Amino acid sequence: MIVTIDGPAGAGKSSIAHQVASRLGFEFLDTGALYRAATLAAMRDSINLDDAERLASFVGTIAITWRDKAVWIDDENVSEQIRTPEVTQSIRHLADVPAVRAELSQLQRQIAAGRNIVTEGRDQGAEVFPDAECKVFLTASPLERAKRRMRQLAESGRYLSVEDVLAAQNQRDLEDRLRDVGRLRAADDAVVVNTDGMLPEQVLDTIVNLAKERM
Ligand code: C5P
Repeated sequence: MIVTIDGPAGAGKSSIAHQVASRLGFEFLDTGALYRAATLAAMRDSINLDDAERLASFVGTIAITWRDKAVWIDDENVSEQIRTPEVTQSIRHLADVPAVRAELSQLQRQIAAGRNIVTEGRDQGAEVFPDAECKVFLTASPLERAKRRMRQLAESGRYLSVEDVLAAQNQRDLEDRLRDVGRLRAADDAVVVNTDGMLPEQVLDTIVNLAKERM
């Protein structure tokens, strides 16, 4: 069974998807981490990020894997290195290239094959897993999302104003929504969950119940 959780940055997808997976006894896949790892690998190899063809062929040659709830490049766990602002700002160069998306979508389907899994990202329900049994689109108001992101950054010692976080978030939303292929959108058969005013436990219960109804 596949449960997809899509939504904009800062909606809390990762932590919710993680908890939904553990409540259901499913595995969990963070597809943003795969885009981040591909971006990190390209930056490390000094690939010209404006050269779409080069990026597409490069992504076909790198060994990105997902195991133990972590993303790996060859034998290196890069789960922390992929979270820097430099990587975040550069992802769009790869995420905008249809051939790169095709490669990473293929990887996502391989990882999910034969498993009970909760996947989270932008395009999971609408494009990568159109036949998923349970599709959720998780969202919240821009201000709530920015505040949540601010708290996350503060936990890792980076203190930004809400205005700065909101400006970066608006830019990322625009990029995610306007992309030709793999743009952020709710699948027609997704259930939209707006978390404004909901406690994390309520969000968790809502999604777990949706999944159980479809088992
Ligand atoms: O979820 P996260 O913030 O880690 O995702 C990083 C970026 O990767 C997103 O802003 C988006 O541009 C891209 N992404 C994507 N498709 C996915 C997951 C992430 O294009 N399925």
